[in-house]
Amino acid sequence: MRREPPKELGWGSRFGLVMAMAGNAVGLGNFLRFPGQAVPYGGAFMIPYFIALILIGIPLAWIEWSIGRRGGAFKHGTTPGMFYRLWKHPVSKYLGIFGILLPAMVGIYYIYIESWALGYAWQMATGMLRGKHAYEEMKLAFGSYVGTTNANLISFSSISYTFFLIAFAMNIFVLSRGISKGIEIVAKYCMPILIVLGIILTVRVLTLPPRGEDQTVSHGLAQIWRLTLNDLKTLTRPHVWISATGQIFFTLSVGLGMVHTYASYLKKKHDLTLNGLTACMTNEFVEVILGGSIVIPAAVVFFGVEKTREIVATDGTFAIGFYALPLIFEQIPYGEIFGVMWFILLFLAGLTSSMAMFTPLLVFLEDELQIDRRVGVLLVSFFAFVFMQPVILFNHHKVLDELDYWMGTFGLVLFVAIETVIFSWIFGVDKGWKELHQGAELRVPRIYYYIMKYVTPVFSVGLVLWYCYDGLLEKISMKYVAPEDVPYLWLARIMILSVTLFLIWGVWYAWQTHPKFFEDEENENINQV
Ligand code: ALA
Repeated sequence: MRREPPKELGWGSRFGLVMAMAGNAVGLGNFLRFPGQAVPYGGAFMIPYFIALILIGIPLAWIEWSIGRRGGAFKHGTTPGMFYRLWKHPVSKYLGIFGILLPAMVGIYYIYIESWALGYAWQMATGMLRGKHAYEEMKLAFGSYVGTTNANLISFSSISYTFFLIAFAMNIFVLSRGISKGIEIVAKYCMPILIVLGIILTVRVLTLPPRGEDQTVSHGLAQIWRLTLNDLKTLTRPHVWISATGQIFFTLSVGLGMVHTYASYLKKKHDLTLNGLTACMTNEFVEVILGGSIVIPAAVVFFGVEKTREIVATDGTFAIGFYALPLIFEQIPYGEIFGVMWFILLFLAGLTSSMAMFTPLLVFLEDELQIDRRVGVLLVSFFAFVFMQPVILFNHHKVLDELDYWMGTFGLVLFVAIETVIFSWIFGVDKGWKELHQGAELRVPRIYYYIMKYVTPVFSVGLVLWYCYDGLLEKISMKYVAPEDVPYLWLARIMILSVTLFLIWGVWYAWQTHPKFFEDEENENINQV
């Protein structure tokens, strides 16, 4: 049960709340994952992307805000208690474990990636990347930065480890300050800075002079925005729909339990509809307008369309951000300044998301296991630190990718399906609709009632079934994994399993030790002033 006085609990201001929620959503996904997902499909990507946003993403965000605020009314800050309040069944609280497990396990590798951005900002500022003129050189520099180039038993580099420690300490410091004095303050300052940096970089990239016939900014923008007849054929491939929906989930931070926890600090009189929509739209502005106008156009101007596509296809999502962009910035006037801006922007985007990732676990320890916040912060930091070591040291054995698949991809989709079924079908859309509109400043069009009732849950369940059909067994059996990586992927799975077991125990223990707290209807409204 929460110990802090109610005033400490809530968000200090509406601006702070929206910035924190938007910061929760705006992350590395907006600038790195989005272009990486969009480019392979060309103009075809944006159609399913916007459809998924309108039909699945925004309703899901409203569902999560509603579940969160309702849970908070019963003094539950995490999904085990929240789900139990929606569905009084012994299994519901255990299903809620996903809302703590997923963000924490994603946070384990997310902070490490975020720390690369900080390290690269430093390298840019100190001229450490100067003198590299070829893409391959940058690629090598990145491998040596993360310690994978000469990795033997472990992948270690003192510079990347140092910046990891700094990024980790910053996250822990913010978490230790709590919601209104930590997370909210950071979001209130970092988000506007991030948006200004994004606008400056967008203007810089959009004014780059052409370097060849097809090496122009408009060719770059066309990679995402031009729709050809061929692109329309791409729409018949299920993968483009799956990728676009996955991107919407990841970018809005839905299906991760983080939105629920942030929303649990709201009071009944607080609006969910307009605030929720504003946070989603802020994220979309940053992703589609800023994220879509920096990375791809810059790469196309310098490498041309074919090479840019090849880089995305062979080296993956991070390649453009960490190999290509530093190279480009090295070649334009005052480029190092823009390079520093780019990596600071990435770091801030990462920080405002990662601090949300450990919040559910921390709040669970505090609310349901009644552990003092300071002790909770110590425990979470200790275990997170230990669990981050295999991600860093066995990076060359794909520990990070394994965690990303099970937690950030499949687990997220599964959790979305669970929560929509519980909210829309078990709790019922009628009650859910009422909850959503309590204190609302924006009346949601009635069509969303039907979307939440039918489209969102059916689509989410369908998506899980698709994942099961499309390669899940091969993933489980590690069919395509190199033999030398197998033990490390098992290590990643053991990590997931151990946190899951701890959470199962935690939920069981909480319900054993203070069962009345979970049944007592009178708890409601205690904090709802
Ligand atoms: N929504 C966060 C991102 O896009 C997790 O990175």
